[in-house]
Amino acid sequence: MDLETFIRRLPKAELHLHIEGSLEPELMFELARRNGVVLPYGSVEELRAAYAFTDLQSFLDIYYAGAAALLHEQDFFDLAMAYFQRAAADGVVHAELFFDPQTHMARGVAFETVLDGLERAATEARERLGITSRLILCFLRHLSEAEAFETLEQAQPHHHRFHGVGLDSSELGHPPSKFERVFACCHDLGLRLVAHAGEEGPPEYVWEALDLLRIERVDHGVRSAEDPLLLERLVRERVPLTVCPLSNVKLRVFPELAQHNLKALLDKGLCITLNSDDPAYFGGYLGQNFLASAEALDLSRADLTTLARNSLEAAFVTQAERAPWLAELESVAGLGY
Ligand code: ADE
Ligand code: ZN
Repeated sequence: MDLETFIRRLPKAELHLHIEGSLEPELMFELARRNGVVLPYGSVEELRAAYAFTDLQSFLDIYYAGAAALLHEQDFFDLAMAYFQRAAADGVVHAELFFDPQTHMARGVAFETVLDGLERAATEARERLGITSRLILCFLRHLSEAEAFETLEQAQPHHHRFHGVGLDSSELGHPPSKFERVFACCHDLGLRLVAHAGEEGPPEYVWEALDLLRIERVDHGVRSAEDPLLLERLVRERVPLTVCPLSNVKLRVFPELAQHNLKALLDKGLCITLNSDDPAYFGGYLGQNFLASAEALDLSRADLTTLARNSLEAAFVTQAERAPWLAELESVAGLGY
């Protein structure tokens, strides 16, 4: 079996995917036309040419501008359905989708509009494509604690419709500690907790996310490698890291994929998972993240199997949901050597 087929056939969970980051330029322009929204770019080509990022903030500026095309329930449905179709083609069996309600509410889009569209797509994806999913509401960390509390208040009547909360947007200067009280409330509501930490921010932000926010998975977390005590803890407590290799290269966390530390972290015994982050902006969905990493870092089929198994183990699902995927994974792995 060739490498691409092997990767596709491994059952995988995608645990770090911003649904707004899966908005392909063609759909962005179609939605903008449908909704009478004027984008700051004249064409798909002009927009793609702007995807030359120098750091996280240079990406976020364009990402928030693009999200302006999303207004109606149908837009969120179309967005998520397009993602589910691509994910299914890559052998993703389960996806946990981040969404940024504050980005949309700032434009007058109701929380329910976002949720209704994403949820309808999730139902259809389960029925038609066999992919299960969860929704994770992300707070924008460049905004205030008070704004996060306001968002939580508006989300609260719907809290059974999303599974967890996360923390994203500009990391430097916005440490996890800023949201300690918000996450304490979310914890009390029974929501699952994750946060971006250690993407551009220092290892201290990962410590804070673990100790103050009580997160169960670290999104990115690659800068944890700078702190041996932190690495020891992540191994001991088996805290999963949702690593996004193509994203890290596009946003210059690593100069090249060959210099990415995911293989070194995997070899140290960390629970590393691979993910696509914002695939419409970073040049590849999950299959491409696996394939490009395998080639650049000389990952073995055993490594790829471990990465896929880690994703299934780190997913917020029941053992009953997980068991058939794990069985299928071991059977595919057995064919691959
Ligand atoms: N929002 C979308 N993608 C992000 C990333 N990689 N880091 C922080 N916030 C984000
Ligand atoms: Zn992210």
